[in-house]
Parts: sequence; C-alpha cells; structure tokens
Amino acid sequence: MIRSVVRGVGAALPKRVLSNREMESIVDTSDEWIVQRTGIQQRYIAGEGETTASLGAEAALKAIESAGLSAADIDMIICATSTPDNTFPATAVNIQNRLGITHGFAFDVQAVCSGFVYAVTTADAYIRGGLARRVLVIGAETFSRILDWTDRTTCVLFGDGAGAILLEAAEGAGTTADRGVLTAHLRSDGTHKDKLYVDGGASTTGTVGHLRMEGREVFKHAVGMITDVIEQSFEASGMTAADVDWLVPHQANRRIIDGSAKKLGIPLEKVVVTVAEHGNTSAASIPLALSVAVGDGRIKPGDVVLLEAMGGGFTWGAVLLRW
Ligand code: UT7
Repeated sequence: MIRSVVRGVGAALPKRVLSNREMESIVDTSDEWIVQRTGIQQRYIAGEGETTASLGAEAALKAIESAGLSAADIDMIICATSTPDNTFPATAVNIQNRLGITHGFAFDVQAVCSGFVYAVTTADAYIRGGLARRVLVIGAETFSRILDWTDRTTCVLFGDGAGAILLEAAEGAGTTADRGVLTAHLRSDGTHKDKLYVDGGASTTGTVGHLRMEGREVFKHAVGMITDVIEQSFEASGMTAADVDWLVPHQANRRIIDGSAKKLGIPLEKVVVTVAEHGNTSAASIPLALSVAVGDGRIKPGDVVLLEAMGGGFTWGAVLLRW
C-alpha cells in the first residue's frame, strides 16, 4: 500500500523576539504569571515585510532543501492557516508562486490550531488516493495581527512563525513497521464556537477582527478531547503509548501538554515542548516543534511520532506516523 513518508522538514521565525518582560510594558501582566500559567517565556512577532506567506515559503524551501529536492519536484501544497495574507487567493498559492512553480495545485486548510493535523491528514488522503506524489504541508501564522493588544487574557499567549514538512508517496507493507502516516483521526464540534473565535470576517463585519477566547473554558475541554482522539489512533493502529518515541503536541500551554501526556502515560522526556520559546503559533506550532526536534537529533528515521492538536471550532485531531 502507498504510505506518505516525511522526507524533509523546515521552519521560519520572524526576526523580532518579544519577551514576557517587554509584555509587562504593553498590558497589566507579569513574567511570573505568564510562565506559571502557560510555560511561555517569549514569542516571535512578524515585522514589516514578514507575512504568513513569506514565513511559509521560507519554511517550505528549507523542507524541500532538507529532502535534497527542488521546488520543481513538488506537485501539491497545502497551507494550514487562519491568518492568510489575503482573504483570497489562498496563502498556499501565494507560497507556490514564491517558490517559482506553476505546475501542480495548492490550497489552504482552515482548522485554527488543529490546522496542521488536518493538513497532514488531507495530504495523506491525496497521496494514498494517487492524486499527488510529493506534497508540501505547511503551517504558517501571523496571529500577532489578529490579537487585541489591550486584552491581557489573549495577547500574551500567541506568536508568529511557520513550519513545513515534505511528504512523499512510498510503497509500504501495510503494517505499523512502515514509515509514513499510519493512522489519522479528525474531529470538530461547532457548538463550542463562542469559546474561541475571531470577531470579524469577510461575510459578516467586512473586517479581519480580533481573537476572543474564554481560556478557562477551552482549557477545560482540551485534555479530554486530545486524549480521546489519541486513544482512537491507538485503537485503529493496534499501537499503545509505549510504542510512541515522540509526542509532538500543539503548543498552547505547558499545563495542557503535561496533563495530556500524563493521562496517556507518555513520559515527559518523550514530549517535544517548544511553547517557552515560540508561544502558541496555532497551525505552525507542530511543524515548528518537529523542526526543532529533528534539528537537535531527537527525532530520527524510524521513530514513532504522535502529533495532536485542539483549537477553535472546536477542532481536534491526531496523526500517528513513523518518521
Ligand atoms: O491553541 C488553541 C487552544 N487554546 C488554549 O489551549 C488555551 C487554553 N487556556 C489556557 O491556556 C488558560 O486558560 C489560560 C492561560 C488562557 C489562562 O489560565 P487560567 O489558569 O485558566 O487563568 P484564568 O483565565 O482562570 O485567570 C486567572 C486570573 C484571572 O484573575 P481573577 O479573575 O482570578 O482575579 C485573570 O484576570 O488571571 C488573570 N489573568 C492575568 N493576570 C496576569 C488573565 N490573564 C492574565 C495575564 N496576566 N496575562
């Protein structure tokens, strides 16, 4: 059977770092509160000329290079983002243009913080269905541009950045010993819309709007939803928490990450955590974390890697793959 195997990974961060200390001069907050409640120490903020597409293209190019390929080898691009450069065309098509290619096809996926998990699942379905062979899956965001910088309950949490992986079709035996995506599970439930949303949009206010969140409410649901969908992945694959070499979660809050790992019985040494450095970069957080853990030698070919995310909608999902 055809498997979608990771061939490359890349990341891009804006130049400007915004520390918790600097945040104290913007809103009534403290480094101590932010670290204790979230684990975040700093975040990156896009400056002039840095956009979701520019960061996404930089990450994509690094993923292509790390695979030893060139842009001409790509036949499909998916970009997960909730902060597109324009309402349309899709950021993925903008990135395709920046990579200098006009063949193949590109589109965006919008599932907020679960966007990368949705995009990997979508790419895997296209690859296994024979519609694409080499797919760039990108998570790219500039959440700083939809934050209300007077709202301390949200503006301290998010940051900007992009990450990308290159998936390639490869023949597998159909067992969990195969490299590539082994199983993927997605969920959504719109009854939770008002707990995490943006109060604007093309069809309603005609404005971009600002992010609004009832953090405590989101927190309450997060661990249960995450562990539920991971347990589905274990059931579908016949694998268990003991088989997981690396848990690479969406980086929203250190407490949610630790709580999920504990509930699943995955030791914290096997969890990749980058929330301290990046903050919550929504759809970009998982590929950014993957890039860090591949770069420092933790994630190696053959390792079992579990991706999970939960976010606005609510949306949530998990992907189990062998690197
Ligand atoms: O990525 C998409 C999914 N999003 C998430 O996963 C976010 C989930 N939620 C969270 O991570 C946490 O709920 C937060 C980090 C957002 C908040 O932590 P919390 O422990 O749930 O705090 P809280 O909302 O219950 O607020 C506690 C107190 C409040 O004061 P009172 O009412 O107890 O007097 C807040 O006003 O902390 C206050 N507070 C702050 N204080 C200093 C809220 N934000 C801040 C702040 N600095 N930035």
